[in-house]
Amino acid sequence: MDKFLIEGGKCLQGEVRISGAKNAALPIIAAALLVKGPLTISNLPALHDVNTMLALIGRMGVSVERKADMQVCIDSSSIDSYSAPYELVKTMRASILVLGPLLAHFGEAEVSLPGGCAIGSRPVDLHIRGLEAMGAKIVVEEGYIRATSDGRLKGATIFFDTVTVTGTENILMAATLAQGQTIIENAAKEPEVTDLAQCLISMGADISGAGTDTIIVNGVAELHSAEHSVVPDRIETGTFLVAAAMSGGKVTTTATRPDIQEAVLQKLIEAGATIESGDDWISLDMQGKRPKAVNITTAPYPAFPTDMQAQFAAMNCVAEGTSHIKETIFENRFMHMQEMIRMGAKILIDGNTASIEGCTQLRGAPVMATDLRASASLVMLALVVQGETLIDRIYHIDRGYENIEEKFQGLGGKITRISPSKAT
Ligand code: EPZ
Repeated sequence: MDKFLIEGGKCLQGEVRISGAKNAALPIIAAALLVKGPLTISNLPALHDVNTMLALIGRMGVSVERKADMQVCIDSSSIDSYSAPYELVKTMRASILVLGPLLAHFGEAEVSLPGGCAIGSRPVDLHIRGLEAMGAKIVVEEGYIRATSDGRLKGATIFFDTVTVTGTENILMAATLAQGQTIIENAAKEPEVTDLAQCLISMGADISGAGTDTIIVNGVAELHSAEHSVVPDRIETGTFLVAAAMSGGKVTTTATRPDIQEAVLQKLIEAGATIESGDDWISLDMQGKRPKAVNITTAPYPAFPTDMQAQFAAMNCVAEGTSHIKETIFENRFMHMQEMIRMGAKILIDGNTASIEGCTQLRGAPVMATDLRASASLVMLALVVQGETLIDRIYHIDRGYENIEEKFQGLGGKITRISPSKAT
């Protein structure tokens, strides 16, 4: 298993290009199952999860043609299977996103239950209930969701009693081909949902209200080919900006969008950063100062994103002052904190709230990545504290960050990947 060897004490300076958003790319790849004909997707991030999703639809007989770098052309005209098997779904929960499109376009789908993951039980009951409300017949047995629809799905009014990002995306995709109107209430407002909706509209879907809590879809008989460029990754952007803030440095992120990450930028300003931005760039300058600790409560967009919680925990560990972090979305998303404590962090965890006393005495240590954003937060802390850190199980990080070591090296970070297989 690959590891990262990191030498700390660095002040990050320079410019880094942000990739397309993983959490937009995954549903947009699934949306290709809705149309007979090519869907061309550009600004696709080179991530393990993207490769897994492309492999999943490839196994269904869908043609996947990689064009220029960061571009792929998908054509589901040749599809010959409607099944998403456990051995692929267990490696990536977002595989559940093929359920709605397969059902809506082909009238059948067999998708393995994703199971839980490190950060929580991650149920998919809301996805299933929504599709049943649209007329799907769904049986969950032997670890699989087996769904059929007798003719077209029917439009329905669906209220999500918990805001669910992929739940909203599954119903949104299914509704584009349903008979009649679907109203999704208490819908997720994340920019990745809006990006998916914009792609679907370019394919001929009739959607209004994406980005608000009520999305209205008037079903159409069929969708057509289109081209779409994936929205920049606001979580990758935030990760590099927080890393810069922790190191007292100055970093500019390019090919990104400041208008979809207000909550994070506000917290960085509260931490003492000077933020400047343009249409497609954001720069952060700490002017050599130590950041001030900030209190965080995670919540659905546009509030502070749970996917940035671990990164701010890392910053608070070295910041000036005491802070409190409250995680309201997932039941087990503090595992990075146990690893940070191994580096000397002063953290007290009480249920879904953590109290952190910032200190400057942290030192590198051998640690282990547990989930995607947790592993990024350990890299950030290791780059800043004195001493050497060895991070194990970094396959988690490769799932969601494109070339993270090269990007940090480009900012002056001392990080190298150790691949045991190559070491022999
Ligand atoms: C998406 O996961 C993201 N993944 C996650 O990013 C992100 O953390 C999460 O949204 C919240 O923003 C993708 O978009 C691929 P949810 P998702 O359904 O859709 C409960 C990352 O690091 N719930 O919005 O799976 C659920 O338990 C990943 O990139 C149900 O109860 O999350 C949770 O408490 C991690 N029943 C809450 O809703 C359901 O049927 C929000 O989960 C579905 C969800």
